[in-house]
Amino acid sequence: MAKGKKITIGISGGIAAYKIPELVRILVRNGYYVRVGMTKNATRFVSPLTLEFLSGNKVIWDMFEQEREMEHILWAQDTDLIVIAPATANIIGKIANGIADDFLSTMIVAATAKVLICPSMNTKMLMNPAVQNNLRILRERGYLILEPESGELACGAVGAGRLPDTERIYERIEDILTEKDLSGLRILVTAGPTREPIDPVRFISNRSSGKMGYAIAKMAKRRGAKVILISGPTSISPPDGVEIYKVETADEMREKVMEKWKDCDVAIKAAAVADYRPEITTSSKIKKKDDHLVIRLKRNPDILLELGKNKGDKIVVGFAAETEDLIENAIKKLREKNLDMIVANDVSKKDSGFEVDTNVAKIIRRDGKIEDTGLIKKEDLANLILDRVKEIWNERRNAKFD
Ligand code: PMT
Repeated sequence: MAKGKKITIGISGGIAAYKIPELVRILVRNGYYVRVGMTKNATRFVSPLTLEFLSGNKVIWDMFEQEREMEHILWAQDTDLIVIAPATANIIGKIANGIADDFLSTMIVAATAKVLICPSMNTKMLMNPAVQNNLRILRERGYLILEPESGELACGAVGAGRLPDTERIYERIEDILTEKDLSGLRILVTAGPTREPIDPVRFISNRSSGKMGYAIAKMAKRRGAKVILISGPTSISPPDGVEIYKVETADEMREKVMEKWKDCDVAIKAAAVADYRPEITTSSKIKKKDDHLVIRLKRNPDILLELGKNKGDKIVVGFAAETEDLIENAIKKLREKNLDMIVANDVSKKDSGFEVDTNVAKIIRRDGKIEDTGLIKKEDLANLILDRVKEIWNERRNAKFD
């Protein structure tokens, strides 16, 4: 979404500087134009040559060795975002006090773009009242701070002060630079499987990992929506900033969805809800006895059907996991459940459906339009679904005001 934008990375002299070449590589691979400025001390931790090679641009660390005049001004203003990572106590102190005594600090004083500061240092240094005061000043002045993580530090101590992984820094950059075109929308997303208990140690479930639903929640949040994520059991960390509710069974999912649906405009149901549950859940473990064991199953409530029936002018999007007659079955579900859109995925195809990071889907709208996504990353499919939701939302709003 934010591809083609310009990022200026400022590296100061901390051991976590070793993570920055990887960050530069990820940014370049994702279509960003990247420039790197460094402090002199940072060049002792990581080579400017490496960063020059990875960014494809000249790296500047010496104020008086700029190729063109005033590059500290040009870089500060001709950029969409400046990222200071790692930010040492020293550079944080300089920025908070307007000190400009080398290329990096002078560039920041001249900055007109947003600045993201990623502090990284020993816990005692981080907790030093002067450092904390400088960070407070920076927050008050509108600088963005990526909070350091807790864990084992380079000095061997354990505590707060660790630079987050490059993937997390990258995600934060994307969050900052992505247009907030869904702001004002309240989107409920369901994800993952449900577990239907047989006895205290066994359950019936399915192969859903939650990846599809979590990708939708993450992208909707990134695009400015308020997101409520209702998730069955998964091992994925929830995206930053979404309101998450963990449930186990279809009944629990239904209860939470109905409670939260009142305050939402859109529901996207990526969860793989068990259609049946054991009629009886025993309170003690079932013992092995005969050659056969019969478990009688009972229909679970169809949450999507209930949402569709009472949706008014809200938008309800379903998923269809199919192994045959993909389009016919999906259209049948769209009609029966009164949906605005259904995302039909052929779960028998390689790299599609359960557990993998990609999907192959047909997005079917109520008006009959069918879009074939081909093989697509789940995050990109999430954005495509959200684009279509936005179109339906805008069409509906325009119709209201005509
Ligand atoms: O989680 P991943 O590993 O990333 O896998 C993604 C996925 C394959 C689970 C996802 O892309 C998907 O297809 N989700 C829907 C799976 C499913 O349950 O399909 P269905 O055809 O059985 O159900 C149709 C729709 O009704 C779904 O939106 C489902 O959430 C909903 N439903 C189904 C049964 C039920 N009792 N209540 C429901 O709300």
